[in-house]
Amino acid sequence: MRAVLCETLGDPSVLRIAELPVPEPKAGEILIRVHAASLNFPDVLMVAGGYQHKPALPFIPGMEAAGEIAALGPGVTGWTVGDGVIFGKRPGCFAEYAVVAADSQPMKVPVGWSFAEASAFRVAATTAYNGLIHRAGLKRREVLLVHGATGGVGMAAVQLGKHLGAQVIATGGDDARLEVVRAQGADFVINYRSTDFVPLVKDLSDGRGADVIYDPVGGETFERSLRCAAFGGRLLVIGFTSGGPSTLKSNHILIKCLSVIGVRAGEHARHYKPFADDYAREFPRLAAQGVMRPHISHRFPLERVADAMRVVLERKVVGKAVLEI
Ligand SMILES: NC(=O)c1ccc[n+]([C@@H]2O[C@H](COP(=O)([O-])OP(=O)(O)OC[C@H]3O[C@@H](n4cnc5c(N)ncnc54)[C@H](OP(=O)(O)O)[C@@H]3O)[C@@H](O)[C@H]2O)c1
Repeated sequence: MRAVLCETLGDPSVLRIAELPVPEPKAGEILIRVHAASLNFPDVLMVAGGYQHKPALPFIPGMEAAGEIAALGPGVTGWTVGDGVIFGKRPGCFAEYAVVAADSQPMKVPVGWSFAEASAFRVAATTAYNGLIHRAGLKRREVLLVHGATGGVGMAAVQLGKHLGAQVIATGGDDARLEVVRAQGADFVINYRSTDFVPLVKDLSDGRGADVIYDPVGGETFERSLRCAAFGGRLLVIGFTSGGPSTLKSNHILIKCLSVIGVRAGEHARHYKPFADDYAREFPRLAAQGVMRPHISHRFPLERVADAMRVVLERKVVGKAVLEI
């Protein structure tokens, strides 16, 4: 099979296409013929050696994909060869075939979705659902501020927040890409390059501020978000695409009774099974209603994986970029 191989850490140019044996599914495993795999910011970090999870070299990058079941290992029940599935494997998805444990919660491809869309669902949906529902308990009519809304996990939070009945304010750095975010359900979009989001969020919420702030950007964006959080607001630490974490002023947290909440959507479900059960039960239902259906702005063949990573790094993507395999 053809697979992307990372043999040395570095920028996307270190990646090459290798010919490798098709893996054999062992007991309790499923072999999947991958048709599409989507890019996530952590893929780029992992290849550069800058992500918290550091796989041994060489490795096949990619953490989420979709395809058809090609074979079942001994003892696997409940699945049939040919079923279309969404799955996660960290790493190992940028290849023609992948083996996953049957108990790793693969999900059926929703009716009417392409494999490209399906491949882009899992990480963004899990992060938005765990952040907004499990961790922040977002309620109807609350004000939700989503940073990084032009990106994968941000856009899913816009879509889910709207579905939950919140008033959604979304930030990003490009007017054209923010128009896509508006079409995905944002009530207001703010280009942080031309407008200070702090006073505008207060204006848009009648001076109250945002009840929930979902932040994949970090750095100064998070620090400044404290200033437009509502009394009793919940701030979700999702990631650090601006380059690094934040230094928080604890006086703001005290004065406004704020909650600062760390979000690790996948890891939390591994520690606490009811969250994993919730994903398994709710995601097919939400996807069938079209909630968190991914927006794909870029598609590349497997051979152009380095170009796919570059459009992520150059912030050209709106929603998700996908490899079609
Ligand atoms: N906590 C979790 O469980 C979890 C799960 C998955 C991912 N994550 C993290 O979430 C983050 C986003 O991942 P993703 O895949 O959605 O990335 P992505 O699709 O590449 O999106 C990146 C977003 O960050 C924004 N951004 C980048 N640099 C910025 C800056 N200096 N100032 C303001 N905005 C900036 C971009 O906005 P513009 O380009 O419009 O400026 C874009 O909206 C990553 O840090 C990732 O590790 C966390």
